[in-house]
Amino acid sequence: MTLERTTLRKFLLNLQKDDALDQDLVLLIEDIATSCRIISHQIHNGPFLNILGATETSNIQGETQKKLDVIANDVFLSHCSNCGRVAALVSEELEDVVWLKEKPEKGDYLVYFDPLDGSSNLNVNLSVGSIFSVVELEEDIQTLSNEVVLLNGTKQIFAGYSLYGPSTSLVFSTGQGVNGFTHMIGTGEFFLTFPDMQLPDQTDEFAINASRWRQWDPAISRYVQECIDGEAGPRQKTFNMRWTASMVAEVHRILTRGGIFLYPVDKENEARGGKLRLLYEANPMSFIVEQANGRASTGYQRILDVEPQSHHQRISVILGCSAEVERIESYYRELER
Ligand code: AHG
Ligand code: MN
Ligand code: MN
Repeated sequence: MTLERTTLRKFLLNLQKDDALDQDLVLLIEDIATSCRIISHQIHNGPFLNILGATETSNIQGETQKKLDVIANDVFLSHCSNCGRVAALVSEELEDVVWLKEKPEKGDYLVYFDPLDGSSNLNVNLSVGSIFSVVELEEDIQTLSNEVVLLNGTKQIFAGYSLYGPSTSLVFSTGQGVNGFTHMIGTGEFFLTFPDMQLPDQTDEFAINASRWRQWDPAISRYVQECIDGEAGPRQKTFNMRWTASMVAEVHRILTRGGIFLYPVDKENEARGGKLRLLYEANPMSFIVEQANGRASTGYQRILDVEPQSHHQRISVILGCSAEVERIESYYRELER
């Protein structure tokens, strides 16, 4: 092992030294990293701690909560309030915004998170992750309400995820590219292992839950059919398909070797607006993908430009290599004409 590895702290302090990062944000990112290390420990020891399986409660989305959904949520709640600038926390697992300040001021932080993503994978020992992002308040707040956190994705100053796979990764962007870290077991440290992650423009790998094909709209059906048609079809190349049922794992694969991920609005989920949540799933991942030279769209619009209407809002998600996302956007435009 080389001794010159860059720790997360060294990486963050270098950004701070260059005036690219506030000290308070450095503290908050370190708290988020601590949360991820604790969650990783719990997940990897889940069967011994008797914390696999479901609770008897449902979250606000009407989904059964896994014990680890609740534990991961508690870990974020208790570790991300140390830095004096956090005004509020917004979680997939909590109905309302949690206010930490009575009089939030301009420049205070809103922290959004999906404490455990892909939690249906827990009981079968497959990859899960956490997703998080931070937005700065643009004005002093007089009335504390859920509406205050409805800010679009372009306002994010930090977004990231942790993937609890064979190793635990921490990948994030502060708006200057994307960097990936790995937790070295036994050291308590994240080390920079994947500097400046970039997506290629093109890909021959797609990820979609194909069991939903009867529900798809014509643009999605056309795209997937053309991929499946391979060399004989209009794309004139063979495509590969993956589906891990964890957006974090999909995005990590795409950042590592390219690809495209789709969870579109379809006939079954249309009334809810889609499956994935805008503020704590789609926005953070779109920020990262764009920062890595990729593209993220609803099919009609850049995800980061969508003005949120409610804090648990769902949205259509198509993200990954730019040329592929643009191709699907062009299919939607053709449909409109
Ligand atoms: P969560 O576990 O936070 O509810 O999110 C799961 C999401 C996402 O990560 C994944 O891509 C998708 O749901 C899986 O959906 P399917 O059940 O359709 O495979
Ligand atoms: Mn999720
Ligand atoms: Mn979740």
